[in-house]
Order: sequence, then C-alpha cells, then structure tokens
Amino acid sequence: MMQTRVVHCGVNLAPYVEELLGIPRSKLNWLHNYSYGWPMPVLTREQDSYQDWHQKFYVGWMGSALQGHWVNSLPNIASLVFPGLAIDEIAIQKIPCLRVHLPNNVAVGIKHKDADFGHAEPEINVWMPFTDAYGTNSVYIQNDDGKFNAIYAHPGDIAIFDAVNREHCNAINKTGFTRVSMDFRLAPLDGMYDREAKESINTRSKIGLGDYFVTYAELLNA
Ligand SMILES: [Fe+2]
Repeated sequence: MMQTRVVHCGVNLAPYVEELLGIPRSKLNWLHNYSYGWPMPVLTREQDSYQDWHQKFYVGWMGSALQGHWVNSLPNIASLVFPGLAIDEIAIQKIPCLRVHLPNNVAVGIKHKDADFGHAEPEINVWMPFTDAYGTNSVYIQNDDGKFNAIYAHPGDIAIFDAVNREHCNAINKTGFTRVSMDFRLAPLDGMYDREAKESINTRSKIGLGDYFVTYAELLNA
C-alpha cells in the first residue's frame, strides 16, 4: 500500500474558500462562530456532507475563483502525486469534497476506507487543508501497523494517501478551532477506461470517467 505523505505544494486557496463561503478574511478556523445551529449533536454519515457550508460550497463552486485557482494548481499537484505522468494522462475528480470539522464534532461520520463506497484503485486521494490541521481536528489515517495517526499540515500543504485501501476517520474535535479542507481523487487515465463504475455515496454519480472523473481538458472547458 502506498505510504501517506504530506508535502508542501505552495498552493493556499484559503482566501478563495472564505470568499465562496462568504466569511471574513482569515476567519476560517472560527467558522463555528458563523455556523447556524452550532454546537449541534455529532454528525452522522448521512448528515456530514449536508450542512449549510456544503450547500454554499457546491452551489457556488462552478465558475468560482476557488474553482479557477484549483484547476490552475492541478498540474503542479498532479506532478507530486504521479511524477511520471503529464496532466492530460490523469483523471481528476470533477468536484472536490468539502469537509468542515467544527469543534466538539466530526467532519466525516464514520471510520471507513473508500473501497467501502465504490472507489477503487488506481485512485489516490489529495487532502488539502485550508486551516491548520493537527490532532483531533484533523483526519486520522491508518498506518501499516494498524494504528491511526492524525495528519499535521498547514494551508499550502497537501496530504497524499491511499484512501481506497487505508481506513480513515475523525475524532471529536477538541482543539477549539474549526478545520476546513477539501479532498479530491486523481488516477492515471489508463486505469479508468474499463472499470465498472459504481455510484458515489453522496452525489449518486457514477464513479467513472465523464461523470465523477473528468480529464484536465474537460475541466478547463467546463
Ligand atoms: Fe473517505
């Protein structure tokens, strides 16, 4: 199994996330103070992607400054994930997943590996924090020894990990600060053409090329 890595990619999209979510500059880790209904009971798997922030994010995504800057950053990021491949040899998750990890809550409701939800090799996950991620506000990823470690990363870093095969989960966030991140999958195009695409758990799109995954050219023309 591929080892989990945190690398500095120099791309900090936090200002564009703040713009898209409509909160003041540099307040992302205080997002709970802008969250209607916080504190709320610990989110379940069914609820974790349907908070107000997700609604704002996905409705505003297409054509946003965030989307534009993300697309521009992809050749650099993809070269860190798949050093041997050019960007037009890579399939890209069309719309990244937003994660909001409020204090005393979780961002993702259950421990899982993505293979449980229709994902398959050769997908690799890119996890991009927009706030400092550490300890209980971060994602925990299983090591080879079966233990779970929190990712320590800052805006401008990405974690690259095998979410298909490695279990990952959240703890109750006891840091007092909200963690906001997004994650998306990349895969060599080669391995994507003849896969039997399953439905994604939240959007119900087929996890295959042309639906859940697109080429870079398709992203540029979207
Ligand atoms: Fe996952």
